[in-house]
Amino acid sequence: MLNKPEMLQKAVDELNDVAGKDRLVQEYDLPRLNYIKSCAREAFTLHPIAPFNVPHMSLTDTTVADNFIPKGTHVILSRVGLGRNPKVWDEPCKFKPERHLQDRNKGEEVVLAEPELRFLSFSRGRRGCPGVVLGSSMTTMLFARLLQGFDWSIPANQGTIDLCQGKKDSFLAKPLLAVAKPRLPLHVYSVSR
Ligand code: HEM
Repeated sequence: MLNKPEMLQKAVDELNDVAGKDRLVQEYDLPRLNYIKSCAREAFTLHPIAPFNVPHMSLTDTTVADNFIPKGTHVILSRVGLGRNPKVWDEPCKFKPERHLQDRNKGEEVVLAEPELRFLSFSRGRRGCPGVVLGSSMTTMLFARLLQGFDWSIPANQGTIDLCQGKKDSFLAKPLLAVAKPRLPLHVYSVSR
């Protein structure tokens, strides 16, 4: 988003509309932060924290989408393969949060879970994450407060943020440096609730 200032601004505009600048974002604001949640959803889709889900083993013979999976098979889901699947996502390698806004029925809230597994956030089924509500609230709240509390920019001598991943893991190859300037009145930062 630092590389696309118009996108960052759209997220900040949403925060200005929903929470303003005279108080911190609260949990009751989250249902209305649909652009912010679309950005988080797009980050899960395009930049997963790990390339694969944790391995599972099939307890019985089963068939998934015409693929026979014998009992005892180790099954690993590719987060990258799902999130960047061109059969599912238009321009899959572009960071396009608005796809998640368009994706929902009118008036429906954007959520971070993806039960249809078009990308993998909390997975689903018996071993799916039981912490979906808490995890979604924490992710959205942290992200929203970082954007609400500070004006973010790329350091002057840096150009753009290099999103290339390291060879060994999914993290960025180069350290992520960003400049944060407080943007709210001082009294707002001292409220702890
Ligand atoms: C953004 C935050 C989170 C994400 C993206 C996430 C994602 C996941 C995923 C993908 C799995 C399934 C792994 C598998 O296939 O076996 C999982 C499992 C699990 N998660 Fe989360 N999680 C998050 C937050 C939380 C929180 C806040 C809690 C608890 C308070 C939690 C508790 C668990 C537990 C206990 C399991 C194991 C479930 C089982 O194997 O039966 N998670 N999580």
